[in-house]
Amino acid sequence: MSKLTVKDLNVSGKKVLMRVDFNVPIKDGVIGNDNRITAALPTIQYVIENKGRAILFSHLGRIASEDDKKELSLEPVAKRLSELLNQEVKFIPVTRGIELENAVNDLKDGQVLMVQNTRFEDFVDGQATKYESKNNPELGKYWASLGDDIFVNDAFGTAHRAHASNVGIASNVSQTAAGFLMEKEIKFLGEAVENPIRPFVAIIGGAKVSDKIEIVKSLLEKADKVIIGGGMAYTFDVAKGKTIGNSLFEADKLELAKELIEKAGDKLVLPVDTLAASEFNNDADTYIAEDGIKDGYMGLDIGPKSIKLFQDVISTAKTVVWNGPMGVFEMSNFSKGTLAIGEALAKATEENGATTIVGGGDSTAAVQQLGVGDKLSHISTGGGASLEYLEGKELPGIASITDK
Ligand code: 3PG
Repeated sequence: MSKLTVKDLNVSGKKVLMRVDFNVPIKDGVIGNDNRITAALPTIQYVIENKGRAILFSHLGRIASEDDKKELSLEPVAKRLSELLNQEVKFIPVTRGIELENAVNDLKDGQVLMVQNTRFEDFVDGQATKYESKNNPELGKYWASLGDDIFVNDAFGTAHRAHASNVGIASNVSQTAAGFLMEKEIKFLGEAVENPIRPFVAIIGGAKVSDKIEIVKSLLEKADKVIIGGGMAYTFDVAKGKTIGNSLFEADKLELAKELIEKAGDKLVLPVDTLAASEFNNDADTYIAEDGIKDGYMGLDIGPKSIKLFQDVISTAKTVVWNGPMGVFEMSNFSKGTLAIGEALAKATEENGATTIVGGGDSTAAVQQLGVGDKLSHISTGGGASLEYLEGKELPGIASITDK
């Protein structure tokens, strides 16, 4: 990699500032899914095993009121991390001040400290300050001053943000290095877009064309096939002259869909049938629509012929990138298409040695629901970050890591 990694740093005896992305689902203090915490363990363990003193920063949710602060303390996350590391993680309930400074200075080699949610800096003294989210220069400088001039950024999930706790700290230390998770994300997603082993198949789903248009355009230039599923496919169906009943439709993206169909030719693979429902309800009346959807019905999943078509395309691939569900997969009766894609990816990895990469919350959840996560090459911890990376954008969190 062209960037410094944690292995290039001398962490022994040093106060090592570390940015992780522990923005995990949390309700009433209970963590719904700790994948992002387990994904950062190798880097934290490396730092403490090499006698560094780890000072962890992360955001959690978005803070716009005092009530948000009550909901979104990082304390439960520090507890979970402590269980996973099997050692104490000292939690500091503030983001600046003497309590934090003393705790940092009291740290011994191999110990871990976690600072309160960095976005508490977005709402201070009853005001929306956005010190963290707008990368306030004083804040980045202050946090940087707590450490020994080295910073490890392992927060790939936050790499599309230019905030004080990633870009701000990086611009105030001599060396910023990628952690192992960041390195792995750059390797898998970076190679897929820059130098994929072909055939390269991209699968894009989700509700809206407008959310995914940049990624579709970018992948049409890079991939050999681009499969489109989910709610966004219906705007393409209208572009092809099909009726779609009450399905999702973005009229202002119709011309664009027409252009893409024309330009992409057979590179673009669209569903050929749909599981149509009488209402947005798991128990709705359904039928398989092949030549357009009749009035009063809406498409909520891809149909069996599309599943077969998509599986056949995936089975030819040596690299697959998948972002976004094929239907309303939260409802069991409309989850078949999404789950079938997860299975096809697992099969392509196992049987063809394909590199398979999944990004985005819904597709990741589908893969986990199927229990095939460990059969795939890489499940990205980034939602927005993986999307922007696949769009070919420069991510400020990565750009701010020191070049080798
Ligand atoms: C994410 O979950 O995508 C990241 O942690 C970034 O969170 P944000 O969208 O609140 O900046």
